Amino acid sequence: MIDLTGKVALVTGSSRGIGKACALRLAEAGADVVVNYVTSGREAEEVAEAIAAMGRKAACIRADVGEQEDVEEMIGFVKAECGGLDILVHAAATGGFRPLAVTTQRHFDAAMHTNVLSFVHLLKAAAPLLESAAGRGKVVVLSSHGTHMALPMYGLIGGTKAALVSLARHWALELGDRGVNVNVVEAGLVETDSTRRLPGAAEMFAGRTTKTMVGERMLEAADVADAVLFLASPLSDLVQGQTLVVDGGAAIHV
Ligand SMILES: NC(=O)c1ccc[n+]([C@@H]2O[C@H](COP(=O)([O-])OP(=O)(O)OC[C@H]3O[C@@H](n4cnc5c(N)ncnc54)[C@H](OP(=O)(O)O)[C@@H]3O)[C@@H](O)[C@H]2O)c1
Repeated sequence: MIDLTGKVALVTGSSRGIGKACALRLAEAGADVVVNYVTSGREAEEVAEAIAAMGRKAACIRADVGEQEDVEEMIGFVKAECGGLDILVHAAATGGFRPLAVTTQRHFDAAMHTNVLSFVHLLKAAAPLLESAAGRGKVVVLSSHGTHMALPMYGLIGGTKAALVSLARHWALELGDRGVNVNVVEAGLVETDSTRRLPGAAEMFAGRTTKTMVGERMLEAADVADAVLFLASPLSDLVQGQTLVVDGGAAIHV
């Protein structure tokens, strides 16, 4: 059994969707959890209340992960409230679904700031805490098939996700000998607020079982959270700079 009792986790973008599932899963495993959001304050409070109801410590912090100052304040808050940080899960992401041909500089900058630059701000600020964690510090970042497959309307987000995978490997190189693991969870299509806005979402959700190899079972946020839990736990201490694909086999099916 994975027991994270006494560990402190920060999950970016945990007011909704996969980030929320990760926050709840880590708390179920015993961790105290800081819930981050940027606009959904009420939803973030509800996640924190659910974590507190499990008997864990929970706190909420509003921070735009694309803004260095916000990130530094958030990590300062974690240190002050929780005394340290053992696990950082970076799930926050943005970027509209549109063809690259109509993507503007503004779209590009927003997606790059929130999805990619955030990962630099976060680890620069959090590395000292993660390095002094009891046991190895754990960083898990959420990515998608858009890193290596072409998906309709997904060019911009896919580009940011590919950049994140490379950054994760380089952070592993820089922080690995200092006690920190940095890994990626590459999730298949999960029905969340963001993917419900995908053009043709209903058909894409319905078509998932034709590619997966797990019978009729649909990938859910909780399945992704289980993989994140593994990479956040001591069971994965020797897994470094890797990408764990959680998609029921869809990505290897021709
Ligand atoms: N859903 C999928 O099929 C899928 C597949 C593969 C990978 N992923 C990845 O999994 C992660 C979560 O996806 P999701 O579908 O669960 O997304 P979602 O439901 O749209 O939730 C996005 C979360 O990110 C937060 N967020 C957005 N911009 C932020 C910012 N600037 N600062 C801080 N928080 C911010 C949102 O906070 P507010 O609620 O406050 O706005 C929300 O909690 C993303 O990294 C995504 O790329 C998703």
